[in-house]
Amino acid sequence: MPFSLQACRIIELPKIHEPRGNLTFVEGGNHIPFDIRRVYYLYDVPGGAERGGHAHKALHQLIVAMSGSFDVVLDDGDEKKRFHLNRSYYGLYVCPMIWRELDNFSSGSVCLVLASNLYEESDYYREYDEYISARTSIR
Ligand code: TYD
Repeated sequence: MPFSLQACRIIELPKIHEPRGNLTFVEGGNHIPFDIRRVYYLYDVPGGAERGGHAHKALHQLIVAMSGSFDVVLDDGDEKKRFHLNRSYYGLYVCPMIWRELDNFSSGSVCLVLASNLYEESDYYREYDEYISARTSIR
């Protein structure tokens, strides 16, 4: 099955450790399996808030906890997995056609997302039932 939870994984990014601080970098197509066309970030997330609650038809993403921590729950309709992100040198790669929910944001956390394409509302499934039927039809 293409684009299942199996394809999603934690990617350890390069880290240049120096006494004057750490540096991490991400090269599209090199450290992550897509070219980067958009960057966005979530911040000032109030305690108890949930983000996500949708799937993308074609978008690839890398999710990084730049500061603080939060959880990402990935669901491909067959299986669900919770990832706790709390290091800025780990990214969670999310392939297309995966339902995701983000919660458990620590105070002051920043969630950075690298995305393979520009924002397009038509790339979203925002209803879980619609997402599941779309998945069933590509089985
Ligand atoms: P959404 O993707 O639902 O946020 P999240 O998954 O973090 O909960 O987007 C929230 C709103 O922001 C929605 O109205 C679309 C808009 N938006 C953009 O205009 N551009 C973007 O790049 C993103 C990610 C969202």
